[in-house]
Amino acid sequence: MNSSKDWYERSLKLFPGGVNSPVRSFKSVGCEPKLFAQGLGPYMYDTDGQRYIDFCCSWGPLILGHLHPYVVQKLNQQISTAMTFGATCPQEILLGEEILNHWFTSMEKLRFVNSGTEASMSVLRLARGYTSRKKIVKFEGCYHGHVDSLLISAGSGLAQFGEPTSPGVINFEETLVVPYNDLEALQAVFKEYGEEIAAVMIEPMAANMGLVLPQKGFLEGIRSLTTQYKSLFIFDEVMTGFRIHKGGSHLAFGVQPDLWTMGKIVGGGLPAAAYGGKKEIMDWISPSGPIYQAGTLSGNPLAMAAGLATLQYVRENNVLEHLEELGKELDLLVSERLEKYKQKGLLVYVRKASFFCFFFGTKSLPQNFKEVDACNMDLFSEVYAKWLETGVYMGPSGYEVGFLSYSHNRSHLEKLLEAIVITCEGIR
Ligand SMILES: Cc1ncc(COP(=O)(O)O)c(C=O)c1O
Repeated sequence: MNSSKDWYERSLKLFPGGVNSPVRSFKSVGCEPKLFAQGLGPYMYDTDGQRYIDFCCSWGPLILGHLHPYVVQKLNQQISTAMTFGATCPQEILLGEEILNHWFTSMEKLRFVNSGTEASMSVLRLARGYTSRKKIVKFEGCYHGHVDSLLISAGSGLAQFGEPTSPGVINFEETLVVPYNDLEALQAVFKEYGEEIAAVMIEPMAANMGLVLPQKGFLEGIRSLTTQYKSLFIFDEVMTGFRIHKGGSHLAFGVQPDLWTMGKIVGGGLPAAAYGGKKEIMDWISPSGPIYQAGTLSGNPLAMAAGLATLQYVRENNVLEHLEELGKELDLLVSERLEKYKQKGLLVYVRKASFFCFFFGTKSLPQNFKEVDACNMDLFSEVYAKWLETGVYMGPSGYEVGFLSYSHNRSHLEKLLEAIVITCEGIR
């Protein structure tokens, strides 16, 4: 067996920065990346055989943990039948029905694609085609994938590299960027450009600049502005969908958008994503309508089977309720063990459903990207190194969130806090 170091050296020769997605390089936490060979339940094992409790959950999809037996059984059944046809199959219909009947019940039609980025790209084309307008509004620190017109003031991997945008990005002139939770700024933008705005796109709860919740009235305010100016309101639920609430952010926050994107959990760990909305708008998509969007592997039976098994299991076993209880246990542990560090201004903690986040070097919860950016990322990196040493794996950046899964228990939560206590105790 080759060591982690050997694998890393080989990967550096093949891939830019040794990775196939930038955050995996561990660049922002300043340590050598871990390469992983196995996942089981709450654990991941690196190529040296070290075990870690996984709170990254592949950036969200693994709500049931690694290799959940029910998902594996359904995938085994599917793989012995077919992997892809490039033609419509029952699995995509079953997953579509599961989503519309049990989860996003105010959505009327949807289309499967292969990644969150593809869902964002497609939904924007739809919004622009449907409204015959060009401009879109996004919020600083929200990440919607690496689509050109959305890669502006994005969070996630870009935030960690401190780049407001990326070379090579075009078509950004039509993108208007507003600080998260700043309704006044949005009102000003609408006053000037309202008649030209095709859509406002948002993470209804921002989870790519750490975790930032929408303030009371923020989403409602966007809803009424978009209605007033006949712009579309799009919820990017790639992160929040199937985790925050059974009815998605619509029921979690009481505001209904016109269009949604989904990803991550919808593919149960395999590549799948979707976008959807009102029938009247969705029927503008080809072949019902004139707006073209297609995909060779879209709706392939393998990814659909994994998504269906995951969503059915989550629904039938009250997994979201269970995760809320586990989240409350984490809240309690944090208040028992970390309160004194909070008092010293070393950290704050926020949780919603099975998302959690620690911001270091601040006394108050950040409400927008600038406040997140002002946090102490060096302290995050110190804690991060301790997490790895103590066998805990989190997304390697202070701009990411942690995820609870059905496979976690109290002992895992205790371990998560151990590294924070050790690091804070070391600070004089
Ligand atoms: C909210 C949100 N939208 C879109 C995306 C892009 O999804 P993908 O990485 O599948 O392209 C992400 C990825 O993390 C995301 O968090």
